[in-house]
Parts: sequence; structure tokens; C-alpha cells
Amino acid sequence: MESEPVSNTDVPQGSKPFSKTDGADFPPDLSYQSGFGNHFASEAIPGALPPGQNSPLICPYGLYAEQISGTSFTSPRKLNLRSWLYRIKPSVTHEPFKPRSPGHGRLVSEFDQSNSSTTPTQLRWRPADVPNSPTDFIDGLYTVCGAGSSFLRHGFAIHMYTANKSMVNSAFCNADGDFLIVPQEGRLWVITECGRLQVSPGEIAILPQGFRFTVTLPDGPSRGYVAEIFGTHFQLPDLGPIGYSIVQKFGGELFTARQDFSPFNVVAWHGNYVPYKYDLSKFCPYNTVLVDHSDPSINTVLTAPTEKPGVALLDFVIFPPRWLVAEHTFRPPYYHRNCMSEFMGLIHGGYEGFRSARLTGGRINPFAISMGDGTFLSVAKADGFLPGGASLHSCMTPHGPDTQTYEATIARGNEAGPYKITGTMAFMFESCLIPRICPWALESPLMDRDYYQCWLGLRSHFECEGTDDEQGIHILNGNDETKIPA
Ligand SMILES: [Fe+2]
Repeated sequence: MESEPVSNTDVPQGSKPFSKTDGADFPPDLSYQSGFGNHFASEAIPGALPPGQNSPLICPYGLYAEQISGTSFTSPRKLNLRSWLYRIKPSVTHEPFKPRSPGHGRLVSEFDQSNSSTTPTQLRWRPADVPNSPTDFIDGLYTVCGAGSSFLRHGFAIHMYTANKSMVNSAFCNADGDFLIVPQEGRLWVITECGRLQVSPGEIAILPQGFRFTVTLPDGPSRGYVAEIFGTHFQLPDLGPIGYSIVQKFGGELFTARQDFSPFNVVAWHGNYVPYKYDLSKFCPYNTVLVDHSDPSINTVLTAPTEKPGVALLDFVIFPPRWLVAEHTFRPPYYHRNCMSEFMGLIHGGYEGFRSARLTGGRINPFAISMGDGTFLSVAKADGFLPGGASLHSCMTPHGPDTQTYEATIARGNEAGPYKITGTMAFMFESCLIPRICPWALESPLMDRDYYQCWLGLRSHFECEGTDDEQGIHILNGNDETKIPA
């Protein structure tokens, strides 16, 4: 996989609200360093990196040396993550942190009975509207569910955001964990201490614990998903402002501190602990070429492992455009109950497991999915699994294709030739921890309270002629339980 750590740093020149026409302030042709997990180096001014050592008595240009570490100092060298930043002033120079006022109220980092609950019911939410009032990335971020604790350094949180306003003269710092951001609508232009990232829907950005960053919204209204992990980092699966307000998330609470210079005044840096982004269209999916439906784990892009081999604190799995070719196989995802918990989102298009209405009359709408034989299935606009929406299937909660998808699939039988699922990008945050759900998510008007009905139409197709009843076998015939007479 190719990853793209942030672009070469330019010291930001001033700060002002961005609008849709502010693209000129953020050149579209940034160059990125590539290579997941590499050691990188970047200089905004030639010679700003000290040669041969990390912490000389006096750094070039009179810069301060400052290290940010993503692992303990004593971690084995092959696991050690840290970067050295050479900056105009050190980040320590700021006024004391104080609780942000007013508080945020919808961020959770330690999940317990006081702030969240559990249910084995299948849950699904419609996409949230972008607010009318000015809302930046911080204020627009809210926790949906999660498990564990940022204090105990084990767990995860799943957030979503809706925002319409760029952060102005403020920077966000997540001391609790790493953010994996999945924009669904609207680009994110992120200024970090290591440089800048332009992240479009279809790309992801990872902002590791501790980095300060500012999110600007060149397209205005924006929406997306965020996975946060506590106590570990993602890896590849075994396969010029006057003043800044630093907003630090610590234990799920927000604190602010004033700083009279840009937090991005890094002139050079080197190391392997950096923000990065990845274009999901570059992911090459693998799947069966003969029979059966492979497990979704083959589509894992990034994983945050636990100490148990093969068991993830959080996997980031995608379902990109791909060919389906399996013979005499039920090609949509199979019905299952998973000991892991699955939170799904949809960036664009539809997801094959959750088509909810057959399109009639040959009409094609943006939610239609080609079945490859001239027919289309569509995702209903009023409900269903929509771009910007979400679903949660917790540990051992059964789920799978809805009634229409099942019936359409078996009706097509073995006639289905190879066909390509196009124009879609769904993803899953999958965890071995069981998420607790925040009350505002459970009580949200966006919750699809009829979700369970998509499976109620699944009828028995059981046929069994000539069964004798010597052993008292009861069978299902159609929807009626029948005891065949002996
Ligand atoms: Fe699943």
C-alpha cells in the first residue's frame, strides 16, 4: 500500500475564514512523500534539519528541537514511533489549559453505564443534515458509540461529524488517541505540524495522537466519519496567525489554551510518526475467482491489533468497486453473526447487502446498482443504507442481505455472469470490543426504527417431499410449520 504522509511544510501565513472560493490559499498540487511507515524528512528552508544529530546545542536558524513520540521511549526499535520537529517556538509556550466553555457534551472517551448503553438490536441511522448555524469540525464532531477507555489506553470510539465552517485561529489536539477520518461529503484541508493534507471523499486521513491540526472546509457543508483508537496505532494488516487557541481533547473533555504563535511553525522535521492520507481507489481488492464469498477481512486497509494474534482493536475495511465472478454462489454477503462488532458507513453509491427496493420501469437513479444482467436494484431514498448514514451490528447480532436482495439474487439463479459493482465505496470499523451507544445516537430522529423490517419478508423456501414422520420430524413448508403425516 502506498501511503502519503503530509506535504512539505510551509509556515502558514495568517489565518482567516475559508469560503468555497478560497482554494487559491491551498494549492491543489501539493506533493506528498510516500511509503507507509517510512522514515521521512522535510525542510521548508534548506538546511533547517540539523546534520548528524537530533538535538544539537544550537539548531540551524536558531530553531528549537522538539520530539513527539507515538510509542514509549522503551518500545523496541522496530516498533518505535517518534518524529523530531524543528520549530520557531516550542509547543510548550502557551497559557495554562482550562476547561473549554461552554463544554462540548457529545464526546465520550470512557464508555460506561452513566453515558451509554447496549442493545443487541440491529441499528441503522439516516445521514445527518449539516447544521444551519456556523459549526466547525470540533463542534460538529459527536460520538456515536465505543468501548473501553482512553485513560486505560485500550478501546475505541466511533464519531461522526457535520460541519459548515472552517476552524479559525484554533488548532485541535487529540491527546486521547489516533483519528482515522473518512470524509463522506466535502473536502477537508488539514494543516498539521508536519505539513498539509488535502483529503477528498474517497480518501482517508490518519491524524496520530498528539499532533495539532486545523481543519478547513473549502466546499462548505461537510460530513463524515471518524474512528478513534486508544493506546495503539494503525498498521498494515499482515498482508501566520496572530494567536491560536489550542483545543485539546483529553479524556473526552475539551480544554483550551492560548498561544501567541502558529502551532504549525515547524520549519523541518524527520521521523516516522506523522499524519498521513490514503486514496481508497488505490486499494486492490481480492476475492474468490471460483466459488463462495470470501470473508470481509480480505478488504482490510488498516488494522490496530490487540495482543491476541489476528484480533483487532479496530480494523478499517472497505468495500470498493470490484468484479463478482463466483459460480453457483450466493454473491451478496452471507447471513452471519459475528463475535466482532461491525459499524458500517457509506461514502457514495450503494452497498450490495442492503438494497431495499427493486427499481421498476427501467429507470436508473443515482442509487441504482447494476446487477450485470440488465436489471438494477436501487436503494430507496427514504430509508435504507444511504451515503452518510450508518449501521451498527454488535457482537453476535444477526444480519445479512435484506429480503429484496435475497429474492432477487436467487431469482437470477446461476445465470449471473461476471459483473462489476461500480460507483460505490462502503466501509466498516470492526472491533473485538463491544461498543456502548451514546444516548443522543439511540434517541436520534435519524435512527431508522423500521430497520428490522427489511428482513421480516424473508420467507421459508424449504421444500421436502416424501419425508416420513417415524422420527417425528417437523418441517417448515412455506411459512407454515407442518408435520408431515406418516
Ligand atoms: Fe457483518
